[in-house]
Amino acid sequence: MIDLNLQFAKDHIADEEWQQLQPFVEDAHRRLHQGQVPGADFLGWIHLPSQTLQSGVADILSAAEEIRAQADALVVIGIGGSYLGARAAFEWVKPEYYNQLPAEVRGGPELYFAGNHLSPVALQQLLNVLQGKRVCLNVISKSGTTTEPAVAFRILRKWLQDQVGVEEARKRIYVTTDRARGALKKLADEEGYRTFVIPDDVGGRYSVLTPVGLLPLAAVGVDIRALLEGAMQAEQRLSTPKFEDNPAYRYAAVRNALYRKGKTTEVLAHYEPSLRLFAEWWKQLYGESEGKDFKGIYPSSVAYTTDLHSLGQYIQEGYRNLFETVVNIEKPAVDLTLPSNPEVDDGLEYLAGRPLSWVNDTARVATQLAHSDGQVPNLLVTVPDQSEASLGQTFYFFELACAISGLLLGVNPFNQPGVEAYKVNMFALLGKPGYETQRNAIEGRLKAGN
Ligand code: PA5
Repeated sequence: MIDLNLQFAKDHIADEEWQQLQPFVEDAHRRLHQGQVPGADFLGWIHLPSQTLQSGVADILSAAEEIRAQADALVVIGIGGSYLGARAAFEWVKPEYYNQLPAEVRGGPELYFAGNHLSPVALQQLLNVLQGKRVCLNVISKSGTTTEPAVAFRILRKWLQDQVGVEEARKRIYVTTDRARGALKKLADEEGYRTFVIPDDVGGRYSVLTPVGLLPLAAVGVDIRALLEGAMQAEQRLSTPKFEDNPAYRYAAVRNALYRKGKTTEVLAHYEPSLRLFAEWWKQLYGESEGKDFKGIYPSSVAYTTDLHSLGQYIQEGYRNLFETVVNIEKPAVDLTLPSNPEVDDGLEYLAGRPLSWVNDTARVATQLAHSDGQVPNLLVTVPDQSEASLGQTFYFFELACAISGLLLGVNPFNQPGVEAYKVNMFALLGKPGYETQRNAIEGRLKAGN
């Protein structure tokens, strides 16, 4: 089971801080479970794993089977919470070079992501790769109005229609959106696309265990039942308010205590390249949940040991507003042994016969020691392995900790009002109908240089 080790952070938190934080955490726990928190309309994620397992995932699995039969490649179109969870899970569970593997080894379509930027270069490059393949699209947007996925969908849909005709394209488009609202829902109804619903009470960054994540993951052969079962284990185990039994609450409390001491940046570190997108998912979860009302810990991430050779210097000796959370996979999916080669003097014979995972883990321990000596408190989240079940636990652990952490901070962890600011400016500048007043004001400002 996922766990938290505070060996390299304990000097930064006094016993009386723990004692004083416990009642606040208990209060936040009670209010969260009774729906008495700001953003109470978005608490559907709390029991999502158990409820989804209970209601079943037959629809998702049958659509996934269809996609596998129809497609050499699946393109998932979405951004933010409608993208990061699926990609994080895909990279966590599937091999790094999945798309390059032969079809019979992959056992599912190639998987690509679009609609998470506005770059014509990247989108054209994707179209080039898709050429000649049988393609399905899964467009995901809760609001159904987000510009990036809407633009990518328009281009990809036209491309698909040009390749296979309107009728065949219709069968290859899967829509995941709100049950009733939004331009995407309207389009899906008009065109007769197969549609999956994102529950009203689950916000984007908490939605990976809804069809948002489950459909594309099932399509590429991720065991979504195991993913949900792992999350359900965490849902059950982390339902107690006591620190000693709840590592997610200890994590939330430590973050809060460190923040009060000026540790305003958290660095999420990992030692597996396949966790890179998981770190992106985590950054969105914490950044959007906590960064508001001029408060919040800035979430950043590093991939070790790679970044020890770039950001390591800063973390060791730079400005001391950092703390580090290491997500460590206890048992790697595979291992390699360093061969013996005494004839060649590369200075590595002392490691002959050692598993590479041991070298990697030794680097982790050495780095935690060094960084904590450098006054960077180090938190260690241990995940048993890289299975779907462990990932489910990890998703739930961080979601729950994030909610409690946001409540301790005194913000609404379930809204993201700040995301709208750039959109208003962009719509005004793009000439979207209804934004004429803002457009005039912005053009005036740009001319005046302010
Ligand atoms: O967490 C969130 O709510 C956001 O990141 C959204 O997921 C993101 O903006 C995409 O929104 P939508 O799903 O409405 O296209």
